[in-house]
Amino acid sequence: MSAIPRNQWYVAAYSAEIEHALFARTICDAPILFWRTEAGEVVAHSDRCVHRRFPLSQAPSRLVDGAVVCGYHGFTYGADGKCVAVPGQTRVPRTARLTSYPVAELDSLVWIWIGDPGLADESRIPRATYLDAEGYTTVRGLEPLAARFSLLVDNLLDLSHETYLHGGYIGTPEVASTPITTEVDDDAGIVYVSRHMADAECPPFYAKSTGLQGRIARWQDIEYTPPCLYKLHSRIAPVGSVPNPDGTDPDAFHVEVVYAITPETEHSTHDFWMVARDFALDDEEVSAFLAENNRTVVLQDVVALDVLEQVVAREPAGYQELSINIDTGGLAARRMLARMVGEAPQNAPAAR
Ligand code: FES
Ligand SMILES: [Fe+2]
Repeated sequence: MSAIPRNQWYVAAYSAEIEHALFARTICDAPILFWRTEAGEVVAHSDRCVHRRFPLSQAPSRLVDGAVVCGYHGFTYGADGKCVAVPGQTRVPRTARLTSYPVAELDSLVWIWIGDPGLADESRIPRATYLDAEGYTTVRGLEPLAARFSLLVDNLLDLSHETYLHGGYIGTPEVASTPITTEVDDDAGIVYVSRHMADAECPPFYAKSTGLQGRIARWQDIEYTPPCLYKLHSRIAPVGSVPNPDGTDPDAFHVEVVYAITPETEHSTHDFWMVARDFALDDEEVSAFLAENNRTVVLQDVVALDVLEQVVAREPAGYQELSINIDTGGLAARRMLARMVGEAPQNAPAAR
């Protein structure tokens, strides 16, 4: 049985990746063709010609006058996926139509609905407005992960690994030693995990980007909306500083770390990562530093998770992990994901 929830929105691409050109990406095991119409709308269809399955993203398939022409025998499809021309006859079979996928473009992200198109409701897409808002600068990337998406969910919900896997970048001793609080909002479908470090070492990632010297108050507030959108609200401030009662927070630096966790197949994942900040907005050096450092951190996770995938893929069914307090958020996320695919959670005993 598939572990990938259907009838869900997933991030398929960054808006900037899709132009008036054919673009292919496999999402949730489906090969999908994307392109942007002259009017600027992103469309998504199956990347398989209905005739003999030739991938429409594959040259010599091409876009001609707002229609996709198959590079094998010339079946031609409009922006709605309907075939408008076939070779050797004027009659186009009524069933000649590509499977269409609902798409929405929000916050610089292209979202795709995987499942029954009749159930797609754009109002259910979780938002990250700062990715595309005045007052923030964002750097971003996309890494291929040769591991199932649930391993990335586990990884991101338990940041105590920063101390060990990301020492010298974002990890300091306080991350692992500070207890977390976890809250689960089953109605909204959100898992919250918070770790507030009142007096912590400032890791190079934040020392170099903010210029803060010495020890800091470092808050990590995770908000995960399964299956796809993970947001880490990171607050870095001088020790003793707290936000004002009205919510303003002038002494602090805010970094919004966002991941979109999109299954490519059952055993591989598109690891979209973004870092938005509300300081040094025009400072190219800070942008370059954060982009390079975050990519390094993401690749440290990728190496570890690629190894874990091999371990998990080979183990016998029913392997029992041991979970502790730091796993509370990850276990809550697993329970939500299991409900989405309609199965009892695997390896998800209560935390001890
Ligand atoms: S496979 Fe596309 S036209 Fe034949
Ligand atoms: Fe990590």
